[in-house]
Amino acid sequence: MIPIKSERDLKVMRKACSIAATVLDRLCGIAREGVSTIDIDSAAREIMAEYSCRSACYRYRAGDLRYPGYVCISVNDEVIHGIGSDRALKSGDIVSMDVSVVYQGFVGDNTRTVLIGDVAPETRKLVEATDAALHRGIAQARAGNRVGDISAAIQSYVEPFGYGIVEEFTGHGVGRHMHEEPQIPNFGTAGRGPLLRAGMTLAIEPMITMGSPEIFVGDDGWTVRTSDGKPSCHIEHTVLVTDADPEILTVPMPY
Ligand code: MF3
Ligand code: CO
Repeated sequence: MIPIKSERDLKVMRKACSIAATVLDRLCGIAREGVSTIDIDSAAREIMAEYSCRSACYRYRAGDLRYPGYVCISVNDEVIHGIGSDRALKSGDIVSMDVSVVYQGFVGDNTRTVLIGDVAPETRKLVEATDAALHRGIAQARAGNRVGDISAAIQSYVEPFGYGIVEEFTGHGVGRHMHEEPQIPNFGTAGRGPLLRAGMTLAIEPMITMGSPEIFVGDDGWTVRTSDGKPSCHIEHTVLVTDADPEILTVPMPY
C-alpha cells in the first residue's frame, strides 16, 4: 500500500520538507576546504534543534547496528551513508550531505552534492548530470504515470554519459516513515511498476558513479563506496505527486 497524504498530512509534510531543505542549505554553507566532516555533523545536530526537528538518521537501525551520525556525509568514492569523522575536506573533493528530519511526525528527506575548491571538470560534469537526471525523474512524478517512468527517465539521461547507476539502493516513498512504499529504482522500464496518484510523497535520489556501478559496504558497517574508487554523486528531493505538475517539497525557507 502506498500512503496517500491528506491535506492535513501535507501541511505538516510541507513544513518537514522545508525544514530538511533549510538544514541542508545551511550545511552547504559550512562545507568548505579545511572543515572536517564531524564538524558538519555537529552543526547539523545544532541546526536541527533550532528548527524543533530531529534527525531521522541518528540511531537508525540496520540489523544490530545503529547509525551514529545526524546526517550522512559521503566524500568522493563514498556513495551514501558516510559518517562524519575528523577527515578534513580538501580542494577537489565532492561531498554529498543527506539530511532527513522528523518534524511533528513527518519526514522530509533531501541530499545535495557540493564541490570543494577546484574540482576536476569530469567530476563537475558527473554532479551536473546527476542533478539533471534527478530533475528528469521528478518531471515524471505525475498522477497516471508509473514508478518505471521515473526510473527510465533517470536511466536514459545518465547512460549516454557512460556513468554507472547504483542498483542496490533506491528512492522511496516518504511520510510518517523515512522509507515507505514504493521503492523507486534509478533504472527501469517506462510504463511499468506501481501507479502514481495525487497525494503520494516520493524521495527521488539518483546515486550515479563515474565508473563501475559496483559498490561495497566499508568496515564501519555503513559507508557505501565504489569498488573502483572512482567518484560518485547523490542528489535527492522529496516531491509531491499532484493532479497537475509535481511539486518539489524540499525547498529551503527564505531567510
Ligand atoms: N536519508 C537516507 C535515504 O535517503 C537514509 C539514511 S540511512 C541512515 O534513504 F542510515 F543514515 F539512517
Ligand atoms: Co531518501
